[in-house]
Amino acid sequence: MTRVRTAVRLKARPTGLPGPEHWDVQEEPIAPLAPGEVLVANRYISVSPSLRAQMDAGGAYLPPAAIGDVVRARGVGVVLESRAEGFREGDTVEGPLGSQSHYSGPGEVLSPVDPAFPLPRHLGVLGMTGLTAYFGMLDIAAPKPGETVLVSAAAGAVGSVAGQIARLRGARVIGVAGGPDKCAHVVEALGFDACIDYRSEDVRDRLAELAPEGIDVYFDNVGGPTLEAALLSLRHRARIAVCGFVADYNDIGNLRGARNYLRLLETRSRMEGFSVYDFAGRYPEGRAALAGWLSRGEIAAYEHVEEGLERFPEVLRLLFGGAQVGKLVLKV
Ligand SMILES: NC(=O)c1ccc[n+]([C@@H]2O[C@H](COP(=O)([O-])OP(=O)(O)OC[C@H]3O[C@@H](n4cnc5c(N)ncnc54)[C@H](OP(=O)(O)O)[C@@H]3O)[C@@H](O)[C@H]2O)c1
Repeated sequence: MTRVRTAVRLKARPTGLPGPEHWDVQEEPIAPLAPGEVLVANRYISVSPSLRAQMDAGGAYLPPAAIGDVVRARGVGVVLESRAEGFREGDTVEGPLGSQSHYSGPGEVLSPVDPAFPLPRHLGVLGMTGLTAYFGMLDIAAPKPGETVLVSAAAGAVGSVAGQIARLRGARVIGVAGGPDKCAHVVEALGFDACIDYRSEDVRDRLAELAPEGIDVYFDNVGGPTLEAALLSLRHRARIAVCGFVADYNDIGNLRGARNYLRLLETRSRMEGFSVYDFAGRYPEGRAALAGWLSRGEIAAYEHVEEGLERFPEVLRLLFGGAQVGKLVLKV
């Protein structure tokens, strides 16, 4: 019997916000497995800004997807068939399963995960999202007790975890998020000390009120005007961890640098970019720490689940102005 998959393939490169016209959703046969390969039924796909970055021909921080490609997306699913050592039918796995209903390919890129956790959590706090927050906050930003930490996209997947880790380190944490509901979530559910609604408040003015002495750390998920406001608030020897710049992902061709970067010199501060993949050798350490905090109730995990692979194009747009909090995932 020939198996069939539904695949979401890149059809055209967008200018600005991507829409349904930039994707093809099609059914196609699945080739029989070669030795070393595994067939996985994808249950949940991670919907993240990196998908938008792959749609550009170049210039974003990730290699572009080719027209006609299934885009690279993390996912969690169940093994249907295996010709790879170490995997059996029924295993739950996480890996680069792609924007499709079934993954068939090398088993070596997949990791078994504990099915006792809600599956989307393996794409959130317990997955690459949590690891990004863990290494970015602890290794790159390295907050000390009593310091003031600013985190943008604070209600989102990476930002929500990054801020909670800084709080566990004894820092005072200020979030930046879009809208009053997200800001209430950041303070009440995630335990940040304060949150600035960048859509209705002037970030620079609010930062001056909330942190009159300035900030020691800025965990930057968005770039743009929030980065400019953060630069103006730096204290002596502050650190900016450059995690992403989602404010510019839809207009990467017109990317402009932050105007007031000279504040780095004036304050002897450091601005450092990082990729979670730089820390691949330490994933077990990160996973163990995140799972420990989660099981002891020291950090909270939120996922926003949308349903239906055919809705992939519209769900991706939620990242750029949607009301979701936590990790955005698509149930296949
Ligand atoms: N360096 C790495 O290895 C690595 C790994 C994973 C992710 N990342 C980066 O981490 C960042 C967060 O990713 P995520 O998966 O956690 O996504 P996310 O924060 O869950 O979703 C993106 C959020 O960005 C905010 N946003 C969208 N447009 C904006 C704009 N114009 N100005 C300001 N904020 C805007 C939105 O929140 P509001 O509604 O609050 O605006 C949105 O919810 C991204 O920049 C991503 O590329 C980096």
